[in-house]
Amino acid sequence: MKRRAFLKGAAAAGAAALVPAGVAGTAFTACRPREAAGDAAEGWDFDEVIDRSGTWSIKYGRATNGETPMWIADMDFRTDPYVRAALRTRLDRDVLGYTSTPQAFIDAIAAWERQTHGYAPEKEWIGYAPGVITSINQAYLTFTEPGDRIIIQPPVYDHFRLYIERLGRVAVDNPLILENGRYRMDLEGLERLIDSRTKALVLCNPHNPIGLLWDRESLARLAEICDRHGVIVISDEIHGDLALYGRRHTPFCSISETAARVGLIFAGPTKAFNLAGLSGTAFCIIPDREKREKYLGALRNAKLDEAPIPTIEATIAAYRKDTAWLESLKRYIEGNIALVEQFFAENDLGIKPIRPEASFLVWLDCRALGLPQDALMDTFRNQAKIIPSNGASYGTGGEGFVRLNIGCPASVLTAALSRIRKAFGK
Ligand SMILES: Cc1ncc(COP(=O)(O)O)c(C=O)c1O
Repeated sequence: MKRRAFLKGAAAAGAAALVPAGVAGTAFTACRPREAAGDAAEGWDFDEVIDRSGTWSIKYGRATNGETPMWIADMDFRTDPYVRAALRTRLDRDVLGYTSTPQAFIDAIAAWERQTHGYAPEKEWIGYAPGVITSINQAYLTFTEPGDRIIIQPPVYDHFRLYIERLGRVAVDNPLILENGRYRMDLEGLERLIDSRTKALVLCNPHNPIGLLWDRESLARLAEICDRHGVIVISDEIHGDLALYGRRHTPFCSISETAARVGLIFAGPTKAFNLAGLSGTAFCIIPDREKREKYLGALRNAKLDEAPIPTIEATIAAYRKDTAWLESLKRYIEGNIALVEQFFAENDLGIKPIRPEASFLVWLDCRALGLPQDALMDTFRNQAKIIPSNGASYGTGGEGFVRLNIGCPASVLTAALSRIRKAFGK
């Protein structure tokens, strides 16, 4: 296996955050020698620039003129080495026959929820789910009828609205409130919005594109309101394993008995361990027996209840006890966020980053530039030569913003920031 140049002493996993000294010429990393990573893995080096050409990457497919793609939410780092090792080992056994979802898959998820989020769901509440969005769509089909209203809280992950509408339901906005650079849910507005056709609310927990970790009090109040009106809460927790700065993600159903009654959690290892291309890799946690039986029955009827072999192997390998790689990754992401913050603090371009509390996506407030959204996107793409996600695609409140994917080597990020300075500098 190829050995890389590891920065000595830089990165015992779990070490204090490595904060870069400055944007230019910064050398910081979070990597680990092979010996310490165990036999199965080859170590890691998040500074390595990996050529993704020829891999049918959706992210790079959009970069037709040599731009740096910083939009769709996968990272440019190698997938977790333990996952790759597990997949390799399985492939080497040759037979990829029909496979049942083993108890080990459920056990790994249960142990992970306990160890990482301090949540101890009963094992029988946990089930395989065929990808987070596919599974959420299945929840719309199971618990709502065409024409029913489903609440979303924009600016929010665009696929919520997309599939609510494709499936003939009505997406209803309860926009987040932005006050003094901080977002919160409009819980009073939510209560007013619910009517007899409102059957579900999709909670993005943590909230993409802003990277917010929701606090217990907001989640508890949300649960009470939804319970009072018979509205189910579909909690998308795909970014939960990437809570930063030593903070913890709060699984919605862990909040209270009420939340456990109204809530369905959908999550998976795909974001944190960089396995998005293993689509169909997710799980659900549904504490309420009636909802669980109805939902899992619907999955069975659609033959969506069988976990593929890569999903089983990858989930068990990712959700292990040893979190050194993930901790190391999170420190690296925090280092990249520090680069972004320092850059915009030192360069008054009319762009302000909002610090994410989870994940590798930074929400950039570009409203002070006063540019129409098309011109904003055009300047990023054609002058700065980077492709961020368009803030407007996340719905109400997204105009004037872009979302920057910083899940890339610091050298790539630094180069992108200097091009932003040239493009937006006066
Ligand atoms: C909030 C959120 N949910 C779901 C997904 C996609 O999940 P999956 O690929 O499992 O459908 C993403 C991907 O960016 C996301 O940000």
